[in-house]
Amino acid sequence: MSDTRAQHTPMTVVHPEFEGKVAVVTGAAQGMGARFTAALASRGVHVVGADIDADRMRATADDLTAELAAASVADKPGEIVAATVDVTEAQDHETIAKLATTRFGRLDFWVNNAGIFPYAVADEITPEQLDATLSVNVEGVLYGAQAAARHMGPGGAIVNMSSVSALRVRKGRGAYCASKAAVAHLTESLAVEFGDKGIRVNALAPGYIDTAMTRWAKDDPATLQHALDVVPLHRFGSPEEVAGPLLFLLSDSARYVTGHSIAVDGGSRHV
Ligand SMILES: NC(=O)c1ccc[n+]([C@@H]2O[C@H](COP(=O)([O-])OP(=O)(O)OC[C@H]3O[C@@H](n4cnc5c(N)ncnc54)[C@H](O)[C@@H]3O)[C@@H](O)[C@H]2O)c1
Repeated sequence: MSDTRAQHTPMTVVHPEFEGKVAVVTGAAQGMGARFTAALASRGVHVVGADIDADRMRATADDLTAELAAASVADKPGEIVAATVDVTEAQDHETIAKLATTRFGRLDFWVNNAGIFPYAVADEITPEQLDATLSVNVEGVLYGAQAAARHMGPGGAIVNMSSVSALRVRKGRGAYCASKAAVAHLTESLAVEFGDKGIRVNALAPGYIDTAMTRWAKDDPATLQHALDVVPLHRFGSPEEVAGPLLFLLSDSARYVTGHSIAVDGGSRHV
């Protein structure tokens, strides 16, 4: 298993319904956010990829643009624009929303993907860890959704990154589990309120996905074996396997789906 930059073949099916649309993806410099960006751009969606790591975001945008050009995955792959955002800052979201609408003239999709995972058992979680986790994982989603709703018209779709940790607790993840459960519930609240605007809000709840965030589990053989034992499909998922459900939630096929979390976890929420 390895990290995810520029070494995966993009999915090659072109969906005309996506072409010319505009998305913002946060946490897009690596991991799932980078592959979501590639999946959208390969379908002709223009993407503002935003991350707190400005250098890595620029490098990833360049890599993905080259990857799409080499693969010729769509007649007109979407443009990928790198932006800097700290998702804990509400104003940053407004700035990237305006960048999207100024550059491309519209905003259709917003993926609140940025997140952090501090491993700490409950009696050792520090106030700083808790603050940071809730700030990035929960405030970041709320501020992103607020900016999206200000700039999207009816038909817009927001997807928030929750986690299987919202559905099933495991040791060492108290702050993270609480934050992702909050994202799941916030997704439902936003769906109820933004329905009036014709904007859908859904969430993805991934299990073990092969990114830098799960390196702690992969680096320790015993932890890795335990993880593989408890996942009914006995493997980690790839970021591409989460991009598929993301595309479904953003697509017209899901036009009557809102306030829902889709688990993409190899069944691990059941064990
Ligand atoms: N990897 C998994 O197994 C897994 C499982 C369930 C949920 N998730 C969630 O999926 C999302 C993506 O995870 P990943 O595995 O790709 O993680 P990752 O660590 O590979 O990437 C996260 C990205 O978010 C960015 N980021 C962190 N703090 C930020 C901030 N304040 N502002 C802007 N960007 C910031 C990082 O720079 C990084 O590029 C996260 O919300 C994570 O909690 C991951």
